[in-house]
Amino acid sequence: MSTFRDNLLEGKTAFVAGGTSGINLGIAKRFAELGARVAVAGRDPDKAQRAAAEIGKGAIGLSGDVRDYDAIRGVMETVAAKLGPMDIVISGAAGNFLAPVLGMSANAFRTVVDIDLNGTFNVFRGCHDLLRTPDASLIAITAGQAVNASALQAHACAAKAGINQLIRVLALEWGPDVRVNGISPGPIADTEGMKRLAPDDASREAHYARIAMKRWGRIEEVAESAVFLCSPAASYITGTILDCDGGSQVGDASRIDLARGMA
Ligand code: NAP
Ligand code: COA
Repeated sequence: MSTFRDNLLEGKTAFVAGGTSGINLGIAKRFAELGARVAVAGRDPDKAQRAAAEIGKGAIGLSGDVRDYDAIRGVMETVAAKLGPMDIVISGAAGNFLAPVLGMSANAFRTVVDIDLNGTFNVFRGCHDLLRTPDASLIAITAGQAVNASALQAHACAAKAGINQLIRVLALEWGPDVRVNGISPGPIADTEGMKRLAPDDASREAHYARIAMKRWGRIEEVAESAVFLCSPAASYITGTILDCDGGSQVGDASRIDLARGMA
């Protein structure tokens, strides 16, 4: 059963940077199901083609590195030329790995900040004059590391915190014609991100215990949040970060398991 009405996004053009796998591909698929013309991009051209084929409905897959302003600007010019001015732009490309600061070279730190934070600047700065306004909607995919410090995640914490502030500044500068929001997913099952951050059973169990909802999220649940933020239901929402995380940001729910024995 669909949460949103059929063809909700008919006539809209949506571009998803980093939309060739995982959560962002799930968002792109949902947009296409609801009638949007969709383009996705990542670094690997073959992966981009496969993603477009998986989305179907005339979706196009392009390659470009978000760290390279001219490259990603060129990708978005192609999208606008082929599919029309963009109504929706998602900045979701990211890189991550577990490493302590002392196990991280300057280039390792810079690489993640460059993909996540500078990449989001490049995508949003580069799309502005290619948007159909008013009512354009931009969404950056951020993460809980933006708010909660996490050991072995200095690069991702710094980069995602920067993204959260960039979202707020752009909401101020580009309102009222362009809404700029973020989605902060919690741990999402079957993603590259969680393969890297919780590679074994013990770390997965620890994650479940801490979350109020006692489970990881599904890609489809994040996609529904993205549809909401792009829809008329969110027409007065800008500069916000929507936590789609089962309560992960609220606090540590693991103590409730101890309390059960005390009741
Ligand atoms: P993923 O499958 O690894 O997706 C990353 C995407 O970004 C791919 O399409 C990848 O394609 C692309 N990409 C990477 N570097 C790029 C670059 N320099 N230029 C252009 N594209 C690039 O990741 P995911 O786990 O689904 O995560 C997706 C987003 O959700 C990320 O922003 C992540 O921080 C956020 N998030 C994830 C979780 C989670 O549980 N997984 C939790 C919170 C937040 P190529 O490799 O071909 O470039
Ligand atoms: N621990 C410590 N340092 C690491 C590392 C790790 N696990 N993985 C990579 N690095 C370092 C590299 O050694 C290099 O530093 P150096 O030049 O000083 O040796 C630096 O990070 C850049 O690595 P490189 O492989 O050249 O970068 P890249 O641009 O080809 O790839 C990554 C970027 C490293 C983020 C890669 O993991 C990637 O492409 N990730 C995309 C998918 C992803 O992370 N998905 C999850 C999203 S949440």
